[in-house]
Amino acid sequence: MTAPDFIEARRSIRAFAPGAVPRPKLDALIEAACLAPAPHHSRPWRWVILDTGDAKRALADGMGARWRADLTTDGMAPERIDELVESSRRKLTTAPALVLGCLTWEGLDRYPDERRRRAEWGMALLSLGAAIENLMLAATDDHLASCWVAAPIFCPEEARDALALPNEWLPQALVLVGHPDPAYQPVARPAVPIEDLRAHR
Ligand SMILES: Cc1cc2nc3c(=O)[nH]c(=O)nc-3n(C[C@H](O)[C@H](O)[C@H](O)COP(=O)(O)O)c2cc1C
Repeated sequence: MTAPDFIEARRSIRAFAPGAVPRPKLDALIEAACLAPAPHHSRPWRWVILDTGDAKRALADGMGARWRADLTTDGMAPERIDELVESSRRKLTTAPALVLGCLTWEGLDRYPDERRRRAEWGMALLSLGAAIENLMLAATDDHLASCWVAAPIFCPEEARDALALPNEWLPQALVLVGHPDPAYQPVARPAVPIEDLRAHR
């Protein structure tokens, strides 16, 4: 018994052939994302498609400023910071399209205490992860390349404000989408060491 082929086929592809992704195709990816399970039927996800240079640059610059400040606080050498921030900016601004996954409290349960608030938000984040996986599986099925980029989860407010999104939309995950670079060669995945990863009770 192996994983289904359509799961195996999805890879994180970071290099793209030139060419825009038509907006209806991007909408179809979001529709696939929204088939994911969500806590108490909440669908706490909001989606932003960025396929213009201005929008991609705005997001990259907003998040880049935060990252630069964090790395400076960490004491990293300024030249290395420049390299990292510039490389990230290039990745975001050269991808044909970006899909930004946001969470909102709308539809989630509200609790008076921090412990349950954190758990509720954690559930929403888990469901966003399921939605993003759906999105990338649907992209693979449509012969599109995709790659999840973590950056927004480190700076949701900066990402939101860079794009003038509604206050309650909190960016958490970014997916690069485009046509795969024909030169892309997948690296073999390491075997799953099932004996080390699971327990029986
Ligand atoms: C939450 C999350 C964050 C990730 N962030 C990044 C990222 O910032 N940059 C990147 O190039 N890949 C990122 N990835 C992709 C992983 O590196 C990739 O899934 C992993 O190397 C396995 O490769 P595969 O997806 O081809 O199986 C992220 C994946 C996840 C699930």
